[in-house]
Amino acid sequence: MCGIVGYIGKDRAASVMLDGLKRLEYRGYDSSGMATYRDGALQSIRRTGRVAELESAVGEDLGGELGISHTRWATHGDVTEANAHPHTSSDDTIAIVHNGVIENHLGMKNFLTGKGYTFKSDTDTEALANLIAYHYAKEPETKGKNRFLESVRKSLTHVEGTFGIAVICKDNPDELIGARRGSPLIVGLGKGENLLASDVSALTHCTTNVVYLNDNEVVHLRPDDFNITTITSANVEAVIQQVDWDTSAAELGDYTSFMEKEIFEQPASLENGMRGRFSDDGSTALFGGLNLSPQELLGVDRILFLACGTAWHACLVAEYLIERFARIPVEVEYASEFRYRNAPLDKNTLVFAISQSGETIDTLAALREAKRKGFRTLAINNSVGSTIARETDGGIYQHAGPEIGVASTKAFTSQIMLCAMVALYLGRLRDLSFTDGTKIVKALKALPDQVREVLKQNEKIEAIAKKYAHYEDCLFLGRQLMFPIALEGALKLKEISYIHAEGYPAAEMKHGPIALISKDCPSVFLTTSGEIFKKSLANIQEVKARKGAVICVASADCELPDDLIDEVIRVPECHEIVQPILMSIPVQLLSYHIALQRGCDVDKPRNLAKSVTVE
Ligand code: M6R
Repeated sequence: MCGIVGYIGKDRAASVMLDGLKRLEYRGYDSSGMATYRDGALQSIRRTGRVAELESAVGEDLGGELGISHTRWATHGDVTEANAHPHTSSDDTIAIVHNGVIENHLGMKNFLTGKGYTFKSDTDTEALANLIAYHYAKEPETKGKNRFLESVRKSLTHVEGTFGIAVICKDNPDELIGARRGSPLIVGLGKGENLLASDVSALTHCTTNVVYLNDNEVVHLRPDDFNITTITSANVEAVIQQVDWDTSAAELGDYTSFMEKEIFEQPASLENGMRGRFSDDGSTALFGGLNLSPQELLGVDRILFLACGTAWHACLVAEYLIERFARIPVEVEYASEFRYRNAPLDKNTLVFAISQSGETIDTLAALREAKRKGFRTLAINNSVGSTIARETDGGIYQHAGPEIGVASTKAFTSQIMLCAMVALYLGRLRDLSFTDGTKIVKALKALPDQVREVLKQNEKIEAIAKKYAHYEDCLFLGRQLMFPIALEGALKLKEISYIHAEGYPAAEMKHGPIALISKDCPSVFLTTSGEIFKKSLANIQEVKARKGAVICVASADCELPDDLIDEVIRVPECHEIVQPILMSIPVQLLSYHIALQRGCDVDKPRNLAKSVTVE
């Protein structure tokens, strides 16, 4: 969502921060800005639009030894230069960049207005800038205490809401302060220079030594040292970690967009996710990080999955697969609903979150609520060191590589593959036979090559996309395991092409959505062979009878009558456990090509952010 980069050290603050901001561009934003310390004052530049606008405003002067910078995704106030960060206190002492939401900013504003502070923006952040300035002005110079640090701490004790902040003060050119509650903030440790960032990808051009701040911690940085305490002044022992970051993974290479790159990376991301995770006898999966023994897992009576967006669709696949192969009842909840619902949970429930970023605020809050109630929590997560990864009792890293495109593609297929492997593992602990286990392992190992086969149909799918890109409505229909893929297909199409799309279990169509079918509303059917296939054919007939066009994504063994289907995209025959993955690929390509045909920016769809760290 919003991005933070702060720098202290050598005479290159502006250039380091611009590089960092560019690395955060993929997260989605509408404006950017930076403040640097120059000649005894804080100088600030802000621009709406892309980081390139800020870069040209900064010009050739890329120096400075201290600075903070930000990419904003509007929450309070329109997209204007005045609302872009950094915000400076009205006495020009303090500059701050902030991610999160300060819920009590109106009360703060009233108080500060009474004290003579003025406001130039509609943001909640400016209230915090002025509050820090107020405490700084009041704070006495006390021996052994840092006045700037004390004023930040004191101000934060009054904040209700969430924050990741970086703050500088005009009187303290060799100090940078950061703090977090609910919004990620990472310290990067260099040689004679230190950094702050909201995402590790914005640091790795300078250092791979990092410290992940925890909630309610404050870091005080100088060029050569740093110190972490809590907001209430308790000492914190910093854990320095080495991040393993392949910078080429976050570059476009020969691709025209990250979405395209990530769709085509799926054979590799799937291979990486399964590598080293099968038993020697080839009958089950192995996970090193669950931190639960087989005996403890046998005591699990129910699994609750929590997530948002695409990851929630992966949870629905998990529900089908775990119930089918491990016979453990599964529930799936939107994390945003669960956190406020106070649902009664069985005491032997295992709580599983799925999150690509590991920073989605609703998923994190739902997990914390489950932990507070004493439940064991696990996560499937693609971001090493993310807050969710650190706060769960155990979990499974996806190893899918950084996903830059806002629309999730390779992270989704990697999540459902890992859900299939969890179903296999839990199944083998219960009633799934050795023979059935080995069939599943073989199917999983064959998957990357089968995905490569499906990707070869890219041009054919592009041609279909050209025929259908002008429609404004579309239905995605599938049954059983294909229902979550129908939901995901509809989400993918709407988020990147702005076409109104809905996903339904095909049989539900008759209960309402059929009213939408006409020559102006095509349907994408996801069909696999098996008992339910004939029922799907009947649903297709119902659409054709109402003059709706039908695009069918079908497994190779489905016999489809020619006169019923307008377009067919085939995927290879495979074990049912991997069908959702193979069927996802054409759906991703179709949405991708339709969006391109409509001239949309697939990597940065309007209004969307990669990681949703505000409620
Ligand atoms: O990082 P997460 O997996 O927790 O993100 C959850 C959703 O915000 C995310 O999947 C979103 O729906 C994507 N834009 C889908 O493409």
